[in-house]
Amino acid sequence: MKRILHVVGARPNFMKIAPIMREMEKYRDEFQQSLVHTGQHYDANMSQIFFDELDMPRPDINLDVGSGTHALQTAQIMQRFEPVLVDYKPDWVFVPGDVNSTIACALVASKLGVKIAHVEAGLRSFDRAMPEEINRLLTDQISDLLLTPSPDADENLLREGIAAGKIRFVGNVMIDTLVRLLPKAQTRWPSLRERYHLDRYILVTLHRPLNVDMPTTLAEIISALIEISQRVPVLFPVHPRTHARISEINLTQNKNRLLLTEPMGYLDFLALQMHAALLVTDSGGIQEEATFLGIPCLTARPNTERPVTITQGTNQLVASNAAALKEAVYSLLSETRYTRCAAPVVPMLWDGHTAERIVNIFRQVGPCDGNTSVQPLQCAS
Ligand code: UD1
Repeated sequence: MKRILHVVGARPNFMKIAPIMREMEKYRDEFQQSLVHTGQHYDANMSQIFFDELDMPRPDINLDVGSGTHALQTAQIMQRFEPVLVDYKPDWVFVPGDVNSTIACALVASKLGVKIAHVEAGLRSFDRAMPEEINRLLTDQISDLLLTPSPDADENLLREGIAAGKIRFVGNVMIDTLVRLLPKAQTRWPSLRERYHLDRYILVTLHRPLNVDMPTTLAEIISALIEISQRVPVLFPVHPRTHARISEINLTQNKNRLLLTEPMGYLDFLALQMHAALLVTDSGGIQEEATFLGIPCLTARPNTERPVTITQGTNQLVASNAAALKEAVYSLLSETRYTRCAAPVVPMLWDGHTAERIVNIFRQVGPCDGNTSVQPLQCAS
């Protein structure tokens, strides 16, 4: 029996761990799974709704860390995760993505000698000003098995000196969730269309510090969205980080065509993506989902750690530049070829079967020796 401890913490983690847990559940005689929620995201519509909609088991442990500075949040997760690891003594810890919960739990596991599987390893924006890039680089360095979503990720890891034997190109596990829930999401569309009076519309999400923490940048982007909304209505579910900043901006010019809403659950947001004329985002996952769905996507960042969404998908970078954003939106709206890709090119192994490949790998590795006495090491004084 292999003991697996999965870690989730922030919104983009849930759709990556859910399919792996579902798949492992099929082999109950081989895996004993537990789930830790760090509590990095804690609002019902940033966390609970995803457990419900993705049919995830309730977490066995919630570390309840909440918000804070990066140092505080990371340190608190580490402090609270260590006794959990000592108690559960897993063979493997699964950490997804690039959020603070990912690096915090990986670091604790590494110091306790517990093996780490990094789900969505190897992605690089090559921009170390992004906290996520630091989280990715460091998590990959200390992971024992690196599960990658695309061949560029393998190349990045090899270039950084990671042994080839630790890397497995398994595909994009988040797409497993999308494929499974697409039909259910589709049933949400009629009521969403009625609720928000939707026909042709643009769907927006923004939460990166680079776009929302500087009042002038955010004000320029919002002003561009208001202008764009005079041509095509804009629907903007607002992330809590953005909400805190946006309330400081005067939205009086808004003539109800820029519609700000609460953050959406998984199913509603997927339905809205499927029917949007185009997406404007700074999220990593939405760039990927847009590529899979064939919906044009403008990414308000100077770079992306997901280059296949540009080389093979529908993504285009516009940085945090309001003028570039407006120009790209108007150009896309006027191009018929971009109104919707009938048969989108989907990157290799983004096929809904990534969790099966991951679990097959773990069915073949033996339980790790020597982890049964997991104990914290005392620092030398
Ligand atoms: C985090 C991740 C980011 C990911 C994003 C998805 C890091 C470094 N960043 O950014 O990579 O794309 O999640 O959403 O881990 N807040 C609430 N309720 C919540 C959660 C957050 O109100 O449930 C507010 C708090 O005021 C908090 C702020 O949002 O200070 C930011 O939350 P935090 O987890 O620090 O980072 P995100 O911006 O969400």
